[in-house]
This record gives sequence, structure tokens and C-alpha cells, in this order.
Amino acid sequence: MFTRAIVRPPSSTFADGLTSSALGRPVVALALAQHEAYCRALEECGLSLVRLPADEGYPDSTFVEDTAVLTPALAILTRPGAPSRQGEVEAIASEIVRHFPATAEIAEPGTLDGGDICEAGSHFFIGISERTNEEGARQLGFLLSREGFTVSMVDIREVRSLLHLKSGIAWLGGRRLAVIRELASHAAFHGWEVVIVPDGEEYAANCVAINGRLLISSGFPHFESLLKDLGLRVLALDMTEFRKMDGGLSCLSLRF
Ligand code: GLY
Repeated sequence: MFTRAIVRPPSSTFADGLTSSALGRPVVALALAQHEAYCRALEECGLSLVRLPADEGYPDSTFVEDTAVLTPALAILTRPGAPSRQGEVEAIASEIVRHFPATAEIAEPGTLDGGDICEAGSHFFIGISERTNEEGARQLGFLLSREGFTVSMVDIREVRSLLHLKSGIAWLGGRRLAVIRELASHAAFHGWEVVIVPDGEEYAANCVAINGRLLISSGFPHFESLLKDLGLRVLALDMTEFRKMDGGLSCLSLRF
């Protein structure tokens, strides 16, 4: 069970953040409204929120998930792969560490974004991407193994459409994963029940299981019905403005 989440709203500089999308500039006022709806959904899932102030110094800082990987007994501070985002960790670290008995950090030359890390119960999938390098993945794998978790690596550097591993996969609970077709046959997912995200709805792969609910992005009807047919209790949220900045549902919170 998750009980808490750390969130930070988009700031007035949000539209100056990193993006590879061609969907246009986000409307900050709409992003703020979508963020508030996201916060209310987390509360509906039973989480109490730590709401940090917007940080204009870091346009991508609303994507708090990239700054840490959290386990019950250990918070691991990351070292984001984009130089413009590395200061985000220092800006949030004091808030993260006070909730955990122990902390560790990814050290140079390792780089790692939280968006590349998919927790699936006692197992973690670690993405190697343009943001998370092999050394960062190795350091995280070592730390998680020491905590008793199993890990597997998923190299997505050839999958040009993905920024992060979790842009293409999500844990749905138990042994079930949502995975985009391009990654579905990866050896790391053998032995898992893979639900393939319908073609054309790949953005929706980034969904978040919280306390028996599943947050999904609205506007992806085939994926939504697939999940409902599996008996999952979905809660759909508008994410249009975050998508313009390559962000997804999981990126907007650190859950623990
Ligand atoms: N805009 C999110 C990222 O590129 O990290």
C-alpha cells in the first residue's frame, strides 16, 4: 500500500522544459488544472500529499519521479541524465530523505532518471536509455539487490519513440504488465503476463497502479476498455499538457 506522495506543480517556465514532441507549447494554466485533478485523484486513492512549491528554476521539475527511486527502507537519489535537470535532485532531496530511514545516491559517472525504473512488486525493471546509462543502471541494480529485490535490465536505446522505460511499460499488479508492442517480446518480460497496449495508443502505456486503482490517461478508448475487461478499476485523467513535454502520469509524483 502507498500512503503518501510528493508532488510539485508546473511552474510559469514549464513550457521551456525539454521535449521531443511536436504537439506544441503547453498552456501552463491548463497544466496547473490537470495537475490539480491529478493530485485529487491521488487523494482519492488514499494518499496524503506533500505539496512542494513550483520551482521556476527548473522547467521540468514537476516531473518529480525522475529525482528518486523509493523502496520502503531506502530512498535512492538519482543523477538525471539531462544536465538541465540535475539540480532538481538537490532541490527536492531534503523533502525526500526525511521520510526514509536510509538514503543512497547514484554517483558520477552514473546517470539515472526515475522514469526508467519500473517497480513490479519485489522486482524492478531498470531501463537503459538516453538518460539512464549502464553505470547508473548497475549502481541501482546493486542497491536494490542489497535491499532484497530482484532486477532486470531493459535496454531501450534502440526504441526511438521512448524517452523512458516507463513511457512504454507499466506494472498493473501481480505478474501483469502493460507493454507497448515494440517491447513485448523482450526477454525481461518472459514469465510475466503481458497486456499489449493497442497500436496508436502507446502514450497510454504510462499508467500507475495505486492501492487497487489504476490511473490512466484519458483519450485512449481501446486501452481503457482492455483494462476494464480485465476487471481493473481505472481512473482516467487528462494529460494533454504534460504529454506536450514528454511527461506521463507516473512522472508527476513520488509515491511511497
Ligand atoms: N520533459 C521531461 C524530460 O525531458 O525529462
